[in-house]
Amino acid sequence: MLTPRSAPVGFFDSGVGGLCVREAFRRRLPHEDTVYIADTAHCPYGNRPAAEIVRLARRHVRALLARGCKMVVVACNTATAAAIDVLRATWPGIPFVGMEPAVKPAVLRSKSGVVGVLATQGTFNGRLYRETCARFARKTTVLTCVADDFVALVERGETEGPRAEAAVRARVEPLLAAGADHLVLGCTHFPHLKPIIEAVAAGRAKVIDPSDAVARQAERLLAERNLLNPSGGASHVFIRTSLG
Ligand code: DGL
Repeated sequence: MLTPRSAPVGFFDSGVGGLCVREAFRRRLPHEDTVYIADTAHCPYGNRPAAEIVRLARRHVRALLARGCKMVVVACNTATAAAIDVLRATWPGIPFVGMEPAVKPAVLRSKSGVVGVLATQGTFNGRLYRETCARFARKTTVLTCVADDFVALVERGETEGPRAEAAVRARVEPLLAAGADHLVLGCTHFPHLKPIIEAVAAGRAKVIDPSDAVARQAERLLAERNLLNPSGGASHVFIRTSLG
């Protein structure tokens, strides 16, 4: 029988990208159970209209709540940008955690005054990204790079090898050449390529992955609401959507 504390935490993404967020969460909170929805039937989200992403996000939240989830982590920057306000307004009793583009830590640590953000077009179009830059990056040049091809590589499981390396080089080298000393991973698929991104940027730029910060925020919210599970952690459900 599920009590509020023993209920699982829900996650969703357009695909397997957000699994790196769930891994960070599990490292931090090993006693939590989880349910993860990978919407591979509609992947990628990057160039879909915001209204469509809102519709899909609502569907995933309904499915997670039907499984009794006590909190939902929107493990997708694009879906956070398009839908988190609507989700919070629709389910005011449910705590939601979204992906923040980690522009602030990059700007604070930058010595060159130039940082690079890798994300989808949908994330760059969002209010959250614009507001974060306006707030924290007034004196810093923020270079943007839409790296949709990384999403396809990660969905195919091609996170190493010559094709992945060539794709990373093509996106990252121009940012480094323009002086970026920090690279923000603004899409949850991209940490899966982090070893290659770090190898390409070695000695020139640091790579910032917000997964741990999101896990910390999830922990804070659960603690605040007295929802931390003292004794679970054995059940981790993975659901893939299909077109059929
Ligand atoms: N993982 C996603 C994100 O964080 C979406 C990538 C996509 O489906 O385009 O933005």
